[in-house]
Amino acid sequence: MYLSKEEERMLIGELGYAAQKAMEILVALGKIYDAERLVPITSAHVSGVSYANVGEDGLGFLEELASDGKVLVKTTLNPAGMDLERWSTMNIDKEFVENQLRVIDVYSRMGIEITCTCTPYFVGNEPRMGDHIAWGESSAVVYANSVIGARTNRESGISALAAAITGRTPLYGLHFEENRRPTVEVRVQQPKGDFEFACLGIIVGRIVGDGIPLFKGILHAEPDELKALGAALASVGGVPMFHVEGITPEAERSADKAVEKLTITESDIMNVKEEYATEANPDLIFLGCPHLSLTELKGIASALSGKKVRKKLWLCCSRSVKLEADRLGVTQVIEVAGGTILCDTCPIVAPVKDLGVTVVATNSAKGAWYSRNLNNLCVRLMSTEECIREATI
Ligand code: F3S
Repeated sequence: MYLSKEEERMLIGELGYAAQKAMEILVALGKIYDAERLVPITSAHVSGVSYANVGEDGLGFLEELASDGKVLVKTTLNPAGMDLERWSTMNIDKEFVENQLRVIDVYSRMGIEITCTCTPYFVGNEPRMGDHIAWGESSAVVYANSVIGARTNRESGISALAAAITGRTPLYGLHFEENRRPTVEVRVQQPKGDFEFACLGIIVGRIVGDGIPLFKGILHAEPDELKALGAALASVGGVPMFHVEGITPEAERSADKAVEKLTITESDIMNVKEEYATEANPDLIFLGCPHLSLTELKGIASALSGKKVRKKLWLCCSRSVKLEADRLGVTQVIEVAGGTILCDTCPIVAPVKDLGVTVVATNSAKGAWYSRNLNNLCVRLMSTEECIREATI
């Protein structure tokens, strides 16, 4: 792989230990994917933040990088294993709290913004169309590629961090126009609301795997609905990017390249809803996977207004969205009803099993998929309205 003079200096350690380690990681990655060179990036987003995932070995490696490593581009951070301020509300074990704060501290020393959200595009990490970026977190990757038109592969936490430290990423995969074209054309009827977008993502993710679907037949879609669709596609399948004809920015350029065609009907959507229907009584109802936007929080507040929450209801969002919700009185409505807004975390990366949770209900396809397959919980997948009803009966 071609390296510039500066990149060679990084590789032989002339620019410090962290830059050398980071460059070694990127060169190894570039060789695996036959990248001819590195490309400068405008931003990075680092996943792998919960102490439950990082562990002591991972923390040791991060400490070594932080000895002289600093990020060269705007870099944001994925959710941690707890709300960094209200961890006691979550009944998190004290040892976990201390370890999680050590992880946050080490990222902070490297110059990473402690955003702790999977929606970096809501908190100021807003690449422009065509920008090369290096993002971890599959739901953020699929949103950046599809809705924003920025270019990133599905980076791991460590490859995104290496890219942040060097300001570069190997040039391969979705950084090239020709790899961003659809592989499957999917005819659908207009989904009704974010829940049906999520169900659509489950069905298509299962079929296309890591392909790139082009949806036809969707006449309108809100950003939050595209967020739900993308998160489902990326978790149930391994979809890094999708197009929606007439809506997403690169759909038209690439519309004639799809090779395979399929049709999704209303009964397919019904079947997914039934698959996740269960009578089990949830211990925890959570909304905000990916993290809620301010628009979504406002909608939930208005649905909760005048009602009383009788089960544990967690609403997950970024801290900056919560601050805005505080300012607008949205938080107060939710808290008066008995809901809990949590920042910096989510029930997938938080140790919820240690809190005695066995059955969860959510409107999120990704949340349902990981709760079932990673955390071994019983899951009810329902619309936002149904989740609110369940929480308040
Ligand atoms: Fe975000 Fe956690 Fe879901 S990181 S996408 S809320 S699994």
